[in-house]
Amino acid sequence: MPVKIAPSILSADFGRLAEEVRAIGSADYVHVDVMDGHFVPNLTIGPVVIEWVKKATQLPLDVHLMIEDAERWVAAYAKAGADLIGVHVEACPHLHRTLAQIKDLGKKPCVVLNPHTPASAIEVILPDVAQVLVMSVNPGFGGQSFIRSSLDKIRQLRRMIDERGLSVDIEVDGGIKTDNIAEVAAAGADVFVSGSGVFATNDYAATIAELRKRGTAARG
Ligand code: DX5
Ligand code: ZN
Repeated sequence: MPVKIAPSILSADFGRLAEEVRAIGSADYVHVDVMDGHFVPNLTIGPVVIEWVKKATQLPLDVHLMIEDAERWVAAYAKAGADLIGVHVEACPHLHRTLAQIKDLGKKPCVVLNPHTPASAIEVILPDVAQVLVMSVNPGFGGQSFIRSSLDKIRQLRRMIDERGLSVDIEVDGGIKTDNIAEVAAAGADVFVSGSGVFATNDYAATIAELRKRGTAARG
C-alpha cells in the first residue's frame, strides 16, 4: 500500500492560497493547521478560509485543530469542509465525546499527541478513531526539526494497532522531508505531513512523488 502524503499549507504563500492548493493536487490530503494563540503560541486560520481551500481542491481536507475548546468548534469545521478532524488529547478533557461528535458529523475522527504525550494516553480510545497523529515537533510553527523520540512512539502505536487488528492510520507531523521519510515510514507510519519539506521546493509535484516513493519503499 502506498503511503499517503499530506502537504501542510502552513508553509504555503497565503497571498496565492488557492493557486498553492491546486499545485499540490497530486497529494493525498491537504493538511490544514488551525491555531488559536492559546493552546499553541501562534494564530492561523479558521472556518472561513477553510471554505475557500475546500473550493480550490477535490482532495480531502485533513484539519489539525490546535485549539482549546475543540468541542465547541468541531461542527463549524465540519461545515466548512473538513473531512478528517484532529483534536489534541492534551486539549480535550472529554475526548471520547469530542471524537464521537466528529463521527456523528460524518467526518473522520483523529486524535493528536504532543511530543511529550505517551502512546498509552490513547490506548482506550484507539478503536474510536480513524487516525492517530503523532506530533514530531512541538506544535505552533513550521520548519522545526524532527524529534527523534517520535520514532519509538510510532513503533509502539503500530504494535498496539496491529495486535488489536484495528484499521487506524498513523500520521506523523513535523520535520518530515525527503531525506528522513524512509526512517519514519520504517517505524510504521502511514500518512506524512510535510510543510516546508514541500513548499520550500520548486516543484511540488516532484517532491510529493519522491516522498511517496521513498516512504512506500521503506514501509514495505
Ligand atoms: C506544526 C504544524 C505542522 C507544520 C509542519 O504545528 O502542525 O503541520 O506545518 O511543518 P514542517 O513540515 O515544516 O515541520
Ligand atoms: Zn499540523
